[in-house]
Amino acid sequence: MAEPVLLRIEKLSRVYGDVQPVYALKEVSLTIQQGEFLSVVGPSGSGKSTFMNVIGLLDKPSSGSLKYLDEETADWSEQRRSRFRNQEMGFIFQAHMLLPEFTALENVMMPLRIGKNLNAKSKAKAQELLIRIGLGDRIHHRPGQLSGGQNQRVAIARALVNRPKIVFADEPTGALDSQTSLAVYELMREIHQDEQVTFVIVTHEQALSGKTDRVVHLLDGTIQSDALQV
Ligand SMILES: Nc1ncnc2c1ncn2[C@@H]1O[C@H](COP(=O)(O)OP(=O)(O)OP(=O)(O)O)[C@@H](O)[C@H]1O
Ligand SMILES: [Mg+2]
Repeated sequence: MAEPVLLRIEKLSRVYGDVQPVYALKEVSLTIQQGEFLSVVGPSGSGKSTFMNVIGLLDKPSSGSLKYLDEETADWSEQRRSRFRNQEMGFIFQAHMLLPEFTALENVMMPLRIGKNLNAKSKAKAQELLIRIGLGDRIHHRPGQLSGGQNQRVAIARALVNRPKIVFADEPTGALDSQTSLAVYELMREIHQDEQVTFVIVTHEQALSGKTDRVVHLLDGTIQSDALQV
């Protein structure tokens, strides 16, 4: 049976500037089902990050429709948008963006703190995630005391701590060597399988996009191809 539609994108555009407008996204339409594991690829400047920021409610489209579970997000207040981001979405970026003065555990718990969900049970969940990603013996280390791959794993745990429906990753392995990249991919895949979290992964790396179930190829702000992979 088909999974329910999580995200319905219709004719979504994002134009930057008005004197010399840049059409970063041009009437992009796409449907993402719950539980998908898809990648977004394309050359530099093709609109990948813009696309991810718009569908991740970090940026607003210039026109078009964006529906989560059949609800149009265009009229949502900033408060509603940020609440949805905190509760239903997780974000992983190329640079881990952990807070340097906080430990791994405190960084993972940050979305709980922001969402006012920090309690004994959710703290235990944060600890369990760190153990799960192989950092059980590093929970009190700060980012400066961890390797690039370890920090990226902490960022993954942080993206998952509120049990989001969807995780957006923009070049999650861009700063890692190939072996560490593979470990990060495997971790995302495992979580996808165990917790049915939807993953949208922006990547330059064919080694990574080649392993996802569906590849959306952007070129000049439009979808050039959208294909399932076996
Ligand atoms: N804040 C901005 N103001 C003006 N133009 C922008 C802005 N952000 C992005 N653009 C333009 O929009 C287009 C798409 O940029 P975007 O960052 O989405 O590309 P990308 O596919 O993520 O590229 P990369 O692979 O280099 O990260 C580019 O032409 C870029 O120059
Ligand atoms: Mg980008």
